[in-house]
Order: sequence, then C-alpha cells, then structure tokens
Amino acid sequence: MKTLFMTATSLALGLAACQSPGTETQKPHTGIIKTPFGAVEGQPVELYTLTNSNGTAVSITTYGGIITAFRTKDKNDSVSSIVVGFDTITQYLQQPPYFGAIIGRYGNRIGNAAFSLDGKEYKLAANNGKNHLHGGLKGFDKQIWKAADVQDSVPTLILEYTSKDGEEGYPGNLQVKVTYALGDNDDLRITYDATTDKATPVNLTNHSYFNLTGDTRSTILDHRLQLKSSSYTPVDSGLIPTGEIRKVAGTPFDFSQAATVGSRMDQVPGGYDHNWVIDRKGKNLETVAILTDSVSGRLLEVQTTEPGIQFYAGNFLDGKFTNHTGTPVNLHTALCLETQHFPDSPNKKDFPTTILQPGEKYHTVTVYRVGRMAK
Ligand code: GLA
Repeated sequence: MKTLFMTATSLALGLAACQSPGTETQKPHTGIIKTPFGAVEGQPVELYTLTNSNGTAVSITTYGGIITAFRTKDKNDSVSSIVVGFDTITQYLQQPPYFGAIIGRYGNRIGNAAFSLDGKEYKLAANNGKNHLHGGLKGFDKQIWKAADVQDSVPTLILEYTSKDGEEGYPGNLQVKVTYALGDNDDLRITYDATTDKATPVNLTNHSYFNLTGDTRSTILDHRLQLKSSSYTPVDSGLIPTGEIRKVAGTPFDFSQAATVGSRMDQVPGGYDHNWVIDRKGKNLETVAILTDSVSGRLLEVQTTEPGIQFYAGNFLDGKFTNHTGTPVNLHTALCLETQHFPDSPNKKDFPTTILQPGEKYHTVTVYRVGRMAK
C-alpha cells in the first residue's frame, strides 16, 4: 500500500513538475497530491487533493475526514469551492459546526442520549441539550483518520479509523473505512464500510455545507432544491422525530417538484432541519436530490443508497466562522444534504434499523456530482 501511495504521489508531483510555465490551464494535474496540514494534539495531519481531468479538485484532511474544498468551474469557467471550508487546521480546531466532516458513529440525534439494545441500556454523551448529536463530544469528525491507501487512475483516498468499544458510550470495536473517489464526471463518490465485534448502531454521513455560488456572500435561499421524497419525519422541539412519517403534499416540506429553498421557509419554525424519507425503487444508488443555482449555473446531484436525507438550511450559522473566500458564514449562507438513516432510529422500532451485528458488513454509497444547469 505504501508503495502504491508513493507511486501515486510521485506521479501527481511528476505531472506537476513536467509542465512548463503557462501550460497549467491546458492540462490539469490529475491524481493526488499530499501536503502537510498542521498537527492535532501533537499528531501530524495531512491534506490530500484529488484532481480529475477537468481540473475539478476535492481536498480532504485526515482530521475528521473533512472535505475542506470542492473546487469546480461555474458557467463562466471561474473556479471556486462549492463547500464551506478553511485553508488551515486552526479554524477546524475551534469547533465549527461539523463543516465537511465525516459524521459517526451516529449521524444526527439520538433522543435522551440513550438507547436499549439486546436488553441493555446504553448512555451516550448529551451534547445537544438532553440529546446526543453527531456521535457525541468527540465524534468521528474530531478524530485523526489513517490514510490507508491512495489510487491514481480515478483519484481515490481511503481513510480508516477504529472506534473503540465504549467510545462515546457505544458498544463494540467498530472498524470504519471511508473511500473518496473523484470521477471525470465531477462526481465525488463516498463509500462507507464498517464492521463490528458487538451489535451497535451505525449511521455514517458527510456534513458538507454547500453554497453553489462558491461564496458565502450570498445566501442559499434562492437555490432551487428537488427531493425525491413524498414524506418526512416530523420532529419535536428538540429536533427528535416523533415517529410519524408524514406526507409532504400541500406543505412547505414538499420539494417533489423543484422549489427555491427560501420561498416557504417562513412557514417552518426554525427553518428546514428535517429528515426526508426517500421514495426508493430498491437498494441501489439512486438520485435523491438536485440543487441548482442560476447565478453560478451550477447543479449538484446527490445519489445515495440510504433511505433518508437531512436537509439542513444552515439555521444555526451565525457568522462566527470565515470561509476560504474571506467572507463570514452567516445565517442560511450554506445548506447540508446529509444522506442517512433516520434520526433516533435506535429508539424507533418502526424506522429502518441502524443496528450493525457482528459478521455483517455496513456498506453505503453517496455521490455528489456537480454539473451545469441546462441553458
Ligand atoms: C445537523 C443537524 C442540525 C445541526 C447541524 C450542525 O444538520 O440536523 O440540527 O445540529 O447538524 O449544526
């Protein structure tokens, strides 16, 4: 693996070195480049940049598996990042709200920070009021992942992490592998694999915040969103699903036809931060969301094998953090489309199960593909 990694890095660096000045725009440096990205608690952290033949580039740090940038061309061929991120590790250590990170062991909330499994009650960290959010105080977003392998033909990075039995209150040693592959269709494929030695809930996702304009100077309220969903899971005041699966027809939650994010949000107290139930045909990868922005002409298509998607409209963003572009990340200047199993499933017997048993293989795939809107 080491050898492969060396080959890939040298190849990428070699390509860069071969180019004479001025040719850079004609042929992008495809492949993977590894650069240092500081240190966390004395341990070095790296940044891997995956670049495809169109020049689209995705940067991922081993700290939290965070996607720090997803740089694509807009309708005028101007390049900018469609995800909120930072250029240094320092801001990531100031606890931003999960910008771009891998979320685990459990994406979204578990009510009362507790669940029962096989007759035993498990207590988790209550890090969101009385509830448990995004894996706890030190979830997968704050761990240093091991770059296990890279491949260069389709730029690919594999990150691994072992979550110990009892970590954040969860049972079982969980071996996790997250694979990022950037295809030539500007499609970032994220594959999540895990195995355990004791039954445990698992619900992995990525928490990228998108603004297709490439700049948080403007909000996402004029972005148009379409979700392949005819129902959602209503929540209580602590954002825990009530257990009901409610039809979206005739409500501001109906995105079965494309609608602007902001057009009906004033009818949703607190703004959109809900799990939509995907109308699935089967278990394969399906397109579940399409987001467009006419200013940049960009389109984002989300495909997944998951049964749900959390559409979060950046309701808690408050300008505390400043994006790559030097602009503050203010209220509603970015949105998340987190593919997932439903929140609080360990306490909801009628929701699809999130329990992984020893001997089983957890395997989910989500693709974020960036394209251009039809003219
Ligand atoms: C998720 C949750 C939100 C919020 C954000 C992070 O999307 O659903 O309620 O906690 O993460 O701020």
